[in-house]
Amino acid sequence: MSSSPFHGDQILKASRENAPPLKEIPGGYGAPFFGAIKDRLDYFYNQGREEFFRHRMRKYDSTVFRVNMPPGPFVASNPKVIVLLDAASFPVLFDTSKVEKRDVLDGTYMPSLDYFGGHRVCAFLDPSEPKHTVLKQFVFSMLVSRHGEIVPLFRNCLSELFIVLEDELASKGKAYFNTLSDKMSFNFVFRLFCDKKPHDASIEAKGSKLFDSWLFFQLAPLMTLGLTKAFNFLEDILLHTFPLPPFLAKSHYQKLYKAFNENATSILDEAEGLGIRRDEACHNLVFVAGFNAYGGMKTTFPALIKWVASGGEKLHRQLANEIRSVVESEGGVTLTALDNMSLTKSVVYEVLRIEPPVPFQYGKAKCDMAVRSHDAAFEIKKGEMIFGYQPFAMRDPRVFDNPEEFVGHRFVGEGERLLKYVYWSNGRETDDPTAGNKQCPGKDLVVLLCRVMLVEIFLRYDTFDVDPGKLPLGSSATFKSLTKAPTSN
Ligand code: HEM
Repeated sequence: MSSSPFHGDQILKASRENAPPLKEIPGGYGAPFFGAIKDRLDYFYNQGREEFFRHRMRKYDSTVFRVNMPPGPFVASNPKVIVLLDAASFPVLFDTSKVEKRDVLDGTYMPSLDYFGGHRVCAFLDPSEPKHTVLKQFVFSMLVSRHGEIVPLFRNCLSELFIVLEDELASKGKAYFNTLSDKMSFNFVFRLFCDKKPHDASIEAKGSKLFDSWLFFQLAPLMTLGLTKAFNFLEDILLHTFPLPPFLAKSHYQKLYKAFNENATSILDEAEGLGIRRDEACHNLVFVAGFNAYGGMKTTFPALIKWVASGGEKLHRQLANEIRSVVESEGGVTLTALDNMSLTKSVVYEVLRIEPPVPFQYGKAKCDMAVRSHDAAFEIKKGEMIFGYQPFAMRDPRVFDNPEEFVGHRFVGEGERLLKYVYWSNGRETDDPTAGNKQCPGKDLVVLLCRVMLVEIFLRYDTFDVDPGKLPLGSSATFKSLTKAPTSN
């Protein structure tokens, strides 16, 4: 391993300069039907997700290979993909002139449109479809018009969260962060998009759970609940073999739709101004709020807490020093202050690198093309499905030193040059989302919210300790202790 943090740049440049010959893509799909089932069982039960990829990467001595991705039969008609596991080949998935992003958000299957009121919402559209431009502009416009409210509103929501967290910790000796974080995220998203709390107070109490069940029904084919071995067969049949019937999630979705339709009047007026029908705008709004924003935060915030806790007291002291001194010199938690916190920024990028909240990306080859890994070039044919697994691409040892380690200061100073290899938003961290690409329009907002969360923690507390855990989607964090800052009340 190189001692320079920038050896990735040099290697990628060198591999671009010496064009390697085209190689046959190793791996395969096995017998029809049975090959897909075997790969699915390996992925969920026999090997587990990480070993599933690692084992094949070793076996084929390649970061690019062919395999079936779950769910396969009978949820997906064609599970065959070409996997990309390194930082050099992965970005082909961002090039929408080469890959088609139509209906590939969940991978090789498309959930029933009944989950979205019968509409193909923005995230399922390819940028070549005219509606993608209009709907993505709608998302940009709602973010721009609420720009000034984001930080104060989020700080407010975090204050409510920390009051409950402290109470739980005092009464029970521990506090499960995920449930509190989910409630906080729902309330933040709802208040941001609706400019107020919901009229119907029960939505505030239950909104996160309603979204959870709606998300579960769509994403069940990609999940394992981590039950004991005896239940594997049953789980595989129930979750991965046939799509769950959407009518089971209908009443939850209708409650959410009604709440947004009644409360988000100004956003829906804006949408009509852009020429989008009000009901289609509202179904898109529910998806953006529930799947994109709430669903993303559901995995991002617990991972942030988990990894920052793992940094220990030394990192916490450094973060607290930086945050408190910048807030004091800037006179508050302003956007400029947040931008001047280089360690805090780096820690957030490092969390998004080591545990990307959305680990999978898919795209269908629009034409015959050559895709390059560090060592070889591979021919991909038009129509083949390409799949990138972000956690491996962003732990590429040819780009990052000690890639498996959480290194809080990795992106400080000169380390910023490595940001172009941070892909969590479905694009490089150095690129911007546009109506013509598929990068997350909430990219800068997400990074900002993570920074604000760290700022709020270290203005209040000196250090904290959590028990980490694994969930069907993402990580969990249970607070075991919180040490208050001397000046915090
Ligand atoms: C922590 C929170 C978030 C995470 C982790 C996240 C992540 C992502 C990722 C990975 C994609 C690309 C999906 C793909 O095509 O493969 C995406 C797309 C998208 N995200 Fe986010 N996102 C978050 C928050 C938000 C927020 C707050 C908004 C809007 C307010 C948003 C709106 C969208 C939309 C509309 C798309 C589809 C973009 C397109 O079709 O061009 N996301 N997000």
